[in-house]
Amino acid sequence: MTADVVGAAPSALIDTTSLPPEVTVPPPGPRSRGIAARLSRVDNPSFDERRADRADRSGEDHTPIAYARARGSNVFCADGNRYVDLVMGFGACIFGHAPAWLCEEVARVQAELPLALGDVYASEAKAVCEEKLAALFPEPGARVILGLSGADAVTAALKSAVLATGKSGVVAFHGGYHGLSYAPLAACGLAPGFRAPFEAQLGSHVRFADYPDAAALHPGVELHRALEQADALAADCDAGAIIVEPIQGRGGCIVPPKGFLRGLREICDRHGALLVADEIWTGMGRSGALLASVAETTPDLVCVGKGLGAGFPISACFGRESAMAGWGAHGGSAIHTATHFGSPPACAAASLVIDVLCNHRAWERSVTVGDAFKAALQRTGLTVTGQGLMLGVRMNDAGHALAVCRRLLARGYIALTGGLRGDVVTLTPALNAPEPLLFMAAEAVTEEAAR
Ligand SMILES: Cc1ncc(COP(=O)(O)O)c(C=O)c1O
Repeated sequence: MTADVVGAAPSALIDTTSLPPEVTVPPPGPRSRGIAARLSRVDNPSFDERRADRADRSGEDHTPIAYARARGSNVFCADGNRYVDLVMGFGACIFGHAPAWLCEEVARVQAELPLALGDVYASEAKAVCEEKLAALFPEPGARVILGLSGADAVTAALKSAVLATGKSGVVAFHGGYHGLSYAPLAACGLAPGFRAPFEAQLGSHVRFADYPDAAALHPGVELHRALEQADALAADCDAGAIIVEPIQGRGGCIVPPKGFLRGLREICDRHGALLVADEIWTGMGRSGALLASVAETTPDLVCVGKGLGAGFPISACFGRESAMAGWGAHGGSAIHTATHFGSPPACAAASLVIDVLCNHRAWERSVTVGDAFKAALQRTGLTVTGQGLMLGVRMNDAGHALAVCRRLLARGYIALTGGLRGDVVTLTPALNAPEPLLFMAAEAVTEEAAR
């Protein structure tokens, strides 16, 4: 079964079984409400606060549905409604939910060897996975550090930069998002609220530059200005790393002008800093290439997550041998590890995902289908940013975006808000989603945006 998918024609990967929405119980139905009530008692209190805040801003009830099962582009809630998922586990499920070929392989490895012994006694699955990841880097000799989450990969990259350069300064970008554990949180430029309560524990090593926007939605943030600013900030903080998303994801699917990454590469070279491409959202085909950054330049380190496991938790930081060499100078102590890093089932998932992505050149579909989806969304004059199957539809304000998502849910479409001001409806469907479903979704989004 697994071999069939890897070696089959690209069309074999396309989901032909997912169906349009079928909403028989207005969401959230009683079962979902019951589960929300239980969560409200035991989950951390932000569960309720978030819901109340969203209701306030949008004028719509924001009690969540509860997922019961999912397959392909469909999610089924606890009340039996069938939805078309335009979010896909925050962009992670690049081949749709629960692809049988992937689940079978992971289940096989899970039954055989759920956990090896990390960096002490690893498994062959880890060696295979790291070989495949190293081969994705545009230069030979790449090295790999595995993690579980995107934040883990970013942490590994920022630590690698300190070891490689001896410098702790970091330049990051306004609107950037790299995860919420402490190393990436310190570089989070999305909204002050993420950092504010923890500011005292975040250090003062990060400087934030403006992120240039090819669509010029933020007038004044032009390429040359952003580069000048990054250059000055790199000097100011004695940067050992510049960390950048090739396209800002949570920031609202903002595509920078061509030349931005190349400009950052030059700045890094001038200052002896590493260029870290955070491809956790853009990578693994989502934005129209296997890796978005390497089309323009060669970063020192690349972070991938989300699509790497296609629904299973694994991430990686990989890159130049020279950028990783510092890890060898620590007398053999494992100064960066975790119990579940490099677990055999996660490694097996990532290896198979890489094989299938590469054999099918699945990122090409994210260009063709993404362009068609974008055109359908733009049909009524909506502003749509992003690239491939990573699109942001701009609404009037955050309240409007929240209300549109909620009304879409009532029609059987799952979408999320994003953007610096929360005024973007973010759409990250599966790379193999059926086109007719995406066109139906585009119609629903344009209709709800106009209401
Ligand atoms: C660009 C980017 N980097 C890092 C992360 C963090 O990934 P995770 O939530 O898996 O820690 C995200 C998550 O959305 C992301 O979009």
